[in-house]
Amino acid sequence: MSQIAEVTIDGQNYQFPVIEGSEREKAIDIAKLRDQTGYITLDSGFKNTGATKSAITFLDGEEGILRYRGYSIEDLAEKASFLEVAYLLIYGELPTQEQYQQFEHEVRTHTLVNEDMRKIFEGFPVNAHPMGVLSSLVSAMSAFYPDTYDSTAEDVTDLHIIRLMAKLPTIATWSYKKSKGHPVNYPNNNLDYCSNFLSMMFALPVEKYEVDPVVSAALNKLLILHADHEQNCSTSTVRLVGSSQANIYSSISAGISALWGPLHGGANQEVIEMLEAIKADGGDTQKYINMAKDKSSGFRLFGFGHRVYKNFDPRARIIKKAANEVLTKLGVNDPVLEIAKQLEAAALEDEYFVSRKLYPNVDFYSGIIYRALGIPTNMFTVMFAIGRLPGWIAQWKEMRTNKEPIGRPRQVYVGPAQRDFVALESR
Ligand code: ACO
Repeated sequence: MSQIAEVTIDGQNYQFPVIEGSEREKAIDIAKLRDQTGYITLDSGFKNTGATKSAITFLDGEEGILRYRGYSIEDLAEKASFLEVAYLLIYGELPTQEQYQQFEHEVRTHTLVNEDMRKIFEGFPVNAHPMGVLSSLVSAMSAFYPDTYDSTAEDVTDLHIIRLMAKLPTIATWSYKKSKGHPVNYPNNNLDYCSNFLSMMFALPVEKYEVDPVVSAALNKLLILHADHEQNCSTSTVRLVGSSQANIYSSISAGISALWGPLHGGANQEVIEMLEAIKADGGDTQKYINMAKDKSSGFRLFGFGHRVYKNFDPRARIIKKAANEVLTKLGVNDPVLEIAKQLEAAALEDEYFVSRKLYPNVDFYSGIIYRALGIPTNMFTVMFAIGRLPGWIAQWKEMRTNKEPIGRPRQVYVGPAQRDFVALESR
């Protein structure tokens, strides 16, 4: 029997349907609340608001579970390639060998970016943050593919999906090359997705560059771990922008901007900067724990805490193990890894963090691996964006396929009541 939720307002009873998800999550469907009662719900930060029904990613913050289309993150990170996971997220099923070959081939053969995009890029200052550049250039892509503006045909959308997947890594490497004063590299379609990205980042015209398979495998894992995370800030942004039927490039560009913030994807850059500062300050982790606990300091322990995970973030667990492995394999001895471990151990025993259920999140250890791979700090959030792209695409596509209505929250107005206009000369 389907459940009903009863609400009593001003002595009157109202009934609302209860929706149950495939993992027994329950929600009260309040779509008719205002019509029936005149009331709306108020939920700042959407802590309790389900914005959609989605079949893409399941996460259980209490149990520390994360699954893409039903497959555990642990299995996917261990056994799959990033493009396989991208296909799974976007199209709903793991690809057959034939589907995978086709998808991989198409992504490989669309990596080249229109030369006129380079002219736009050249106009950015040399020290521009790569996230600002990435978001602008993805938005600019819509100008190069105007057929996205009104087409809803599946094959047209599929082509734009391939273009985004193929070209984002190419564009992402440009900022880094410019910051170094090096020429940008063209993609090499003989290479797989991760190796091609690494080669565009690190190859120089004057010497031979061989992709280290340890580095490529580590990158593959990191991208998978970041590939989707249901209705987080950037994904909700992509869906909200897309709900106005804005084209896919503009929607993804908005998601990149949302990801940039230090409370979201930008935290991975903040974590390394914080660990570096602790190191430079003599390595006293307790001092920083105390600062994080002191609200008047304005300091937060970056890489700690999560809106949904209140036990542990399964991605952080995988990344911590991977950080140990990758650094050992590459023979890198990074003192900030030790500082990160000390900080984690101290926080996990501290009543402040325990009582608020604050645990390391995905960003706490990811920067340490990126550094070991040679990726500079200001590119960390760009790496996150490359990983999150298939998730954003899948969520955008689901929202459009399900013909979801335009997103438009309401508010409780708390400004002045009606008053008479006073002419300027009388003020
Ligand atoms: N350091 C110190 N205190 C913290 C931290 C932290 N990192 N995170 C939360 N708290 C405290 C808050 O001050 C608050 O304390 P109070 O109850 O005494 O007021 C309590 O814990 C709850 O925190 P909220 O900010 O209300 O939790 P919310 O769910 O809104 O925020 C967030 C989650 C933004 C991730 C937060 O934990 C944070 O700022 N963390 C640091 C930034 C970070 O690592 N972001 C990456 C998140 S993962 C991702 O986006 C990929």
